[in-house]
Amino acid sequence: MVKLWRCVICGDPYVGENPPQNCPFCGAHIQYIKEAKTAEVEFNVELTAKDRANAEHALKVEVSNATFYFCAADETDDAEGKLLFKALGKIEAEHAAIWRKILRLPSVPKGDDKCYKENRKNLEESHAREERAIAFYRKAASESDNMRIRQIFDALVEIESDHLFLSEERLR
Ligand SMILES: [Fe+2]
Ligand SMILES: [Fe+2]
Repeated sequence: MVKLWRCVICGDPYVGENPPQNCPFCGAHIQYIKEAKTAEVEFNVELTAKDRANAEHALKVEVSNATFYFCAADETDDAEGKLLFKALGKIEAEHAAIWRKILRLPSVPKGDDKCYKENRKNLEESHAREERAIAFYRKAASESDNMRIRQIFDALVEIESDHLFLSEERLR
């Protein structure tokens, strides 16, 4: 029997018999997927100056990475590469939407990032971007005393690490 599930990281709902292993929208791992009626999802968070600064940086990182991935999805010279970058672009755009909600902004800003034609170069760029994002999210999690903010940063460390695995597998 199908149920209604909800990701507590991005807040998006999902219909299925079982919770997905990863949120199809933001990539959060299964422990963050709850039955919708009991899922606790909060975007109205009181931010310290430090949390706000980190959330603002996180929004910039996610917009930049989403823009790069959508460019790579269009430009890269490999059919499977296009699909990978499209999937990653959608996930990073969802991450940008999380920070937009936390920062209570009316919309997500636009990015102007470029990408390459060569799939391998895009994979290398992806790898560098994900490594930077992970290091930043780890630091941001350690700097926050807010449970919700830490929960989001911790989940994003796991998600971006999954992305790192995908580029590493292809660069081998
Ligand atoms: Fe999610
Ligand atoms: Fe992300």
